Amino acid sequence: MLPVNAERFLADLHALRQFGAAGVGKGVVRPAYSDADIAARDWLAERMREAGLSVHVDPVGSVFGLAEGTSLLLGSHSDSQPEGGWLDGALGVIAALEVARASAEASGPPVSVVSFQDEEGRFGVTTGSAVWSGNLSLEKADGLTDRDGVTFADARARMPGRSEAFVDPSRFSGFLEMHIEQGPVLDREGEAIGVVDAIVGIRDMKITLVGEQNHAGTTPMQGRRDAFQALSQFNTLLAERFANVVTPHTVWTIGHVSLHPNASSIVPGKVTFSMQWRDGDTDRLGRMEAIIRETVEEVAATGGFELSFGPLLGLEPVDMDPRLRGALETSAETDVPGRWRKMPSGALHDATNVSKLMPVAMLFVPSIGGISHAFGEDTAEPDLVTGLRVLAGAVEVLD
Ligand code: GLV
Ligand code: MN
Ligand code: MN
Repeated sequence: MLPVNAERFLADLHALRQFGAAGVGKGVVRPAYSDADIAARDWLAERMREAGLSVHVDPVGSVFGLAEGTSLLLGSHSDSQPEGGWLDGALGVIAALEVARASAEASGPPVSVVSFQDEEGRFGVTTGSAVWSGNLSLEKADGLTDRDGVTFADARARMPGRSEAFVDPSRFSGFLEMHIEQGPVLDREGEAIGVVDAIVGIRDMKITLVGEQNHAGTTPMQGRRDAFQALSQFNTLLAERFANVVTPHTVWTIGHVSLHPNASSIVPGKVTFSMQWRDGDTDRLGRMEAIIRETVEEVAATGGFELSFGPLLGLEPVDMDPRLRGALETSAETDVPGRWRKMPSGALHDATNVSKLMPVAMLFVPSIGGISHAFGEDTAEPDLVTGLRVLAGAVEVLD
């Protein structure tokens, strides 16, 4: 077994959390290209150098620590949601760093490390790895905007030390990503490890409805073109129309709403909102898209709203590579016999994009109470260390 150092791993995980530490508990605010994110990536690059890896920051700001020759790639992302926890992404990056260090110290197999940029979708959906894999062109990415209208092109220009070149994926024999589950299953069942068999697909787009801004006291209810009421009607109709199409595993979310001008005494004239939906079946994602478009078109036509759609972003559902997954299963069964399971991922991960370039697999550790994308996200430290050992064990099995 590669001699991973649990104390060093936990100390680095806590050190990374200091960049953007916020909120109660172990919360983090470290969105892509924020000052905290850039400082964290600088810190990470230094740890990579100390581990004997050569640092390559690609054109979008994904940070690679490259081992010589052909290597396995391990990692995840170190940016966070606008309000996030300390482990989402960070765990996979720091576990990768520790395995690379331990392997170098023990003259084990070469291991490279990556922290992808904007996995959390300030601009797109897993933007950094999507561009690397060709799932999203750099030109299209550059035109994407965050919720304040900043473009991806302007944001990535803030990231220092970027190379003009992307890393050649043929130098890697495969990609392993360790992550927190971000759901309730392992915690509820008292299990230590999830070996992912597939990752769901996603679609995401912005929708804008423009009605008429007016005085909230003098404008009769009849004839108002109130953008909030239109969104509310759309949301209710959508749930009804999805009923015959979705399964208990399908999810959809309107997570960001920008209402203009957002004042108590003004009938809102404009709303822009995010519409996101996820499922393991590409056909179903397509049927849901048709329902979304028809429903909002109907609401717009009936109420007299101008309607526009932003670019449709998405990733297809993917299966994990059987050989890499098998190595994780063997390692899990050795370390925690009978206390692991195969499971799908309802969260998106960089592994989805990387699967276009090389074989990929993923492992999960439990999330306490199933909480994630919230300050309360956490995992018991013994579970973090178990995940590290299982990851290191899989690297050895693959060697
Ligand atoms: C990734 O954070 C996702 O939204 O699933
Ligand atoms: Mn993540
Ligand atoms: Mn996340």
